[in-house]
Amino acid sequence: MESKLKPSELMAISVLLALLSLQNWANATPQVPCYFIFGDSLSDSGNNNKLLTSAKVNYPPYGFDFPQGPTGRFTDGRTIHDFIVKRLGFKDYMPPFADSEGKNILNGVNYASGAAGILDATGYHRGGRIPFNEQIKNHKIIISRITDLMRNDSATKLHLSRCIYSVQIGSNDYINNYFKSALYHSGRRYTTQEFANVLIEQFSVQLKTLYDTGARKFAVYGLGLIGCTPDALSVYRPDGMPCVQKLNDGATPFNERLKPLLDEFNRNLTDAKFTYLNPSGNPAGLVTNSSCCQTGGGDGELCHPNSKPCRNPRQYLFWDGAHPTEVWNEMIAKSAYDSEKPEEANPFNIRKLAMQVMPLSFEKHRL
Ligand SMILES: *[C@@H]1O[C@H](CO)[C@@H](O)[C@H](O)[C@H]1NC(C)=O
Ligand SMILES: *[C@@H]1O[C@H](CO)[C@@H](O)[C@H](O)[C@H]1NC(C)=O
Ligand SMILES: *[C@@H]1O[C@H](CO)[C@@H](O)[C@H](O)[C@H]1NC(C)=O
Repeated sequence: MESKLKPSELMAISVLLALLSLQNWANATPQVPCYFIFGDSLSDSGNNNKLLTSAKVNYPPYGFDFPQGPTGRFTDGRTIHDFIVKRLGFKDYMPPFADSEGKNILNGVNYASGAAGILDATGYHRGGRIPFNEQIKNHKIIISRITDLMRNDSATKLHLSRCIYSVQIGSNDYINNYFKSALYHSGRRYTTQEFANVLIEQFSVQLKTLYDTGARKFAVYGLGLIGCTPDALSVYRPDGMPCVQKLNDGATPFNERLKPLLDEFNRNLTDAKFTYLNPSGNPAGLVTNSSCCQTGGGDGELCHPNSKPCRNPRQYLFWDGAHPTEVWNEMIAKSAYDSEKPEEANPFNIRKLAMQVMPLSFEKHRL
């Protein structure tokens, strides 16, 4: 269709565009007012440091490529969410809940905890951890602190409704529960299909609880290929194969159930948006079958304390036996933020999630 604008209209539009870009340039405010992070070791940035647990990494060589050194991030450098918040225009990374204070919490908080799962029992053999249910409770504590800071209930609700809520959890419900049959019943009690149902049922309640606290923009990640980690290869020794099929197949029903769950939320909760993100990609050119650091810490899959890592982490997919390097995290962050492929971001990427404008049902109710 050809546009039929009068010269005066064209002029008005170009002035408007110039003003808009000037405004963007002048005050580089983030695309959303805040970003909250729920999850496990893939997202943890220090919440486990003070817990009594074998799932913590506040020691070298973790943080090898991070300016502040070891922080509790389970990687050599930045996590997926560190990259995404920069793309969204935030100046700082989100503080871990464990040491969040002051006004920083207005921009968002990171609640993620290594070894945590959708189920409370998941990861218990590793010691202290903060399961998803408890992360949601911690978010409620933060909401009351934000309410105190803003001193205006409707402004607080508006603020919370515009934030992005990132949820990446579930791997431990397999690695540190279902597939640890010496320690957990679930692997004997359920088929993989039944177990996916148990997880999805619980996850559905948890996401709805987050919605009830005022969350409206959800970025929810599926599970990656849990059978392709160096740790999985060393434990299961799949005889020349690049991955442990049993583990990957075990987790597949979860992803298959998660997509329709999010579709259902999008239909039911019309004032909210849920998007599905796939944390796998093409590792072309990277070493995938061994870790960069020398493992042996934690449950065997973490880096050995103070060990010397490989010379070039940028050539590896895995930093330790279970967690990717920052090179891989950056690739996944780029795809989550920008990808137009429905198999990577569905129905939209984080850039578009940030742009969504939703009707505010709680404002209508006040009238
Ligand atoms: C509270 O916030 C709302 C929404 O931002 C605003 O319209 C209202 O004027 C504020 N009230 C006070 C007392 O500042
Ligand atoms: C969506 O609404 C239907 C009908 O009320 C309900 O049965 C279903 O549980 C809801 N789904 C979710 C994910 O809340
Ligand atoms: C990893 O893969 C490479 C290339 O396929 C192979 O040469 C090497 O032996 C493998 N390393 C291990 C630890 O399996």
